[in-house]
Amino acid sequence: MSNTEKEVDKNQYNPFESEEASKNYANADFLYKQSADHAVNFFNPFEQGCNKVLDLGAGTGVSSEALLATGLQDLTLIDPSASMLDKAKARLGENAKYIQSSAENFGDHFDHNVDVVYALNCFHLFHNLEAIVNQLSKSLKTMGRFIFNVSMPSFYFPDLNTEEFISLKANLEFYKSLSEFTGDNPLVKNTVDLFNKILAGDTEKIFDKKKLIDILFSVGILFDDYKEYYIVSNADGQKVIWDLVAVCLIENDLKRKEFFETVKVPAKMVFRQAYFSFKFNHNLANNDSN
Ligand SMILES: C[S@@+](CC[C@H](N)C(=O)[O-])C[C@H]1O[C@@H](n2cnc3c(N)ncnc32)[C@H](O)[C@@H]1O
Repeated sequence: MSNTEKEVDKNQYNPFESEEASKNYANADFLYKQSADHAVNFFNPFEQGCNKVLDLGAGTGVSSEALLATGLQDLTLIDPSASMLDKAKARLGENAKYIQSSAENFGDHFDHNVDVVYALNCFHLFHNLEAIVNQLSKSLKTMGRFIFNVSMPSFYFPDLNTEEFISLKANLEFYKSLSEFTGDNPLVKNTVDLFNKILAGDTEKIFDKKKLIDILFSVGILFDDYKEYYIVSNADGQKVIWDLVAVCLIENDLKRKEFFETVKVPAKMVFRQAYFSFKFNHNLANNDSN
C-alpha cells in the first residue's frame, strides 16, 4: 500500500470518488465559482499577507483557482478522490501542489507552517471533527486560520426567508425521491433526516453559529469572523446541482433518467452559506501534537 492510499480510509463514504462524479462536476463550476468568490471576499489570503495555504477538499480546483487569482504563490490542494485531483491538476498544473489525503489525515505533511486552511463546500462530507482538529494542530501556525463554509441541512439558519424556505422544501422532496432509488445510502438518509428536522423545528442536534463557535472553542480554536452569502440561480442551476448529486449516487443512466421523471425542479434556487474564520491557538488546544 502506498503512503497515499494509507491516508484515504476506504470505509469513509465519499460520493465524489467516482470518475463520473469528477467528469460531471464541471457542469456545476458556475455555481461553485460563486462560493469561491465569496470565500476570497470573506478572507483574501494574499491581501492578508498569508504565504502558505491549503485547500482541503479541493475537488477539481474551482476554489483553488480563485485563491491563486489573488496572487498567492504557495497553495496545496488536498482531496481523497484521485479523479477529482486529476481534474484539478489539469486545471492548475504546476501552479499548485497536490496531496491525495482526507481532512482526517493530511497533517503529517506539514509542520506548524501553514497560514490558512480553507475547507469549502465539503464540511458536510467530513467524518470526524476531532481527527480534523488534530490535523489542524499539526499543520497550522499558532493563530493560523481555519476557514470554511457550511449550509443547510448540516447547518441551521433560524431566520429563513420565503425563497430559502421554498428551496428547502424542494430539496427535501428531491432527497426523499432519491432515497427511494438509492436504498440505504447513509448520506441521502441523513440529508432527508436533517431537512425534516429543520422543517419540524427540531434543531437541537444540528450545527448553528453558536454551537460551532462553542465546539471549536472547547478544543482551542478561537472564533475570528463570520459572514453569510447567498448562492442564487434559476431552475437550470438547481437541476445541475441535482444532476451532480444523482450522478454520484445512481450509476445506471436509465435508472437516473427514471429517477428524474419523479423530480419537480423549482423555478429558482436560493441557498445561504455561512462562512467562518477561526484562529488556531496551540497553547489552548488540548490535543496539540507538539
Ligand atoms: C463539493 S466538492 C467541493 C470542491 C471544492 N472545494 C469547491 O468548492 O469546488 C467536495 C470535495 O470534498 C472531498 N471530500 C469528501 N470527503 C472528504 C474528506 N473526508 N476530507 C477531505 N475532502 C473530502 C470530495 O472528494 C470532493 O472533492
